[in-house]
Amino acid sequence: MLKPKMEKMLNEQINKEFYASYLYLDMAAKCSEMGRPGFAKWFKLQAKEEIEHAMKIYSYIHEQGGNVKLDAIDKPNVGESAIKDLFEKALEHEKYVTKSINELMDEAVKSNDYATQIFLQWFIMEQLEEESSVQEIIDSLNNMGDSKAGLYVIGRKLYKRKE
Ligand code: FEO
Repeated sequence: MLKPKMEKMLNEQINKEFYASYLYLDMAAKCSEMGRPGFAKWFKLQAKEEIEHAMKIYSYIHEQGGNVKLDAIDKPNVGESAIKDLFEKALEHEKYVTKSINELMDEAVKSNDYATQIFLQWFIMEQLEEESSVQEIIDSLNNMGDSKAGLYVIGRKLYKRKE
């Protein structure tokens, strides 16, 4: 049984994951507009992963006998951004999500909610992986400077992402 504060925070996290999905979908659309299908595919798959994160929390709330309360999802606005700016923004957003997951863990520890602590461990490791994969792309983009050929090679590599 979830305590009310934990249930509220988990519901807020569902909203944050859906917002992340929306944000990445917006970034994917921006990459498509720029004629960069490899980067667009990477962001689309990322958007799908974020929905999976939201659904994991959705199911967990129900498993614990709680109620899912869905809220409005904010409009994403990536504006006019170059490819590298999109990844910088994605990293910034992942750091925000990591902070939010850590706050959920803090609450689970404070309230002796052992099941939620175990549930959140997966998210903590997932955030580590997500931040590192975005950072890796930023590093590759930095290494190639302003080279169009480099952008093409990185795009092709990202296009091979399967899930
Ligand atoms: Fe669900 Fe990318 O954090």
